[in-house]
Amino acid sequence: MNLNEYKKKAAWAALNYIHPGTVIGIGTGSTVFYFIEALSTIKNIISGAVSSSNASTVLLIKNGIKVLNLKKFDQLEVYVDSADEINNNMQMIKGGGAALTKEKIIAAMSKKFICIIDKSKKVEFLGSFPLPIEIIPIAFSYISKEIIKIGGTPKLRKNVVTDNGNIIIDIYNLNIKNPISMEKKINSLPGVVTVGLFAERGADIVLVGDKKGVKILKK
Ligand code: 5RP
Repeated sequence: MNLNEYKKKAAWAALNYIHPGTVIGIGTGSTVFYFIEALSTIKNIISGAVSSSNASTVLLIKNGIKVLNLKKFDQLEVYVDSADEINNNMQMIKGGGAALTKEKIIAAMSKKFICIIDKSKKVEFLGSFPLPIEIIPIAFSYISKEIIKIGGTPKLRKNVVTDNGNIIIDIYNLNIKNPISMEKKINSLPGVVTVGLFAERGADIVLVGDKKGVKILKK
């Protein structure tokens, strides 16, 4: 099983959802890397891209795709990104690449979220992948204590500072029975910037790359 091949298939299939003259929201990670390569083949027909991370910005520029300032937009037609896990309700865990805050902002402002994944990301229940949260550094001890209270095991992601100057805690062993209420609960802790549960605003279309090709899942 070559997961990179599956990621690539899903990424190229996302081109079918790109319309001429639009601005494309761009996620972060190895699957999105393939999407940026694919997008570069039609770069002359789109208006440009807004990026969810410094890493994706570098790749977009390298591929000759015009990067526009996120600040200038309040809505986008489409956002293309991947996930660390996705369930049957198209709710996701994201943030493996530490870009969850901008990813969540762009997801919220986009009419359509196209999630591109290899088949290993599809799960019945979210939570085997440790749930990332971006937090303000001084809140580390307080938030760790609160996470333990709700049954999780918090671990500081070492040597990582986010694009926003914050830190990441990865939460292990969390029982996520109700992703929306867990998203709300963790979001409400003072010091949390963003929780990597994308439950309230999940994906609209999921493109799953596997051996046979690309499966399309819709709401
Ligand atoms: C980055 C993310 C990514 O979408 C997620 O980590 C999946 O990455 P990859 O495509 O490398 O498997 O949420 O913050």
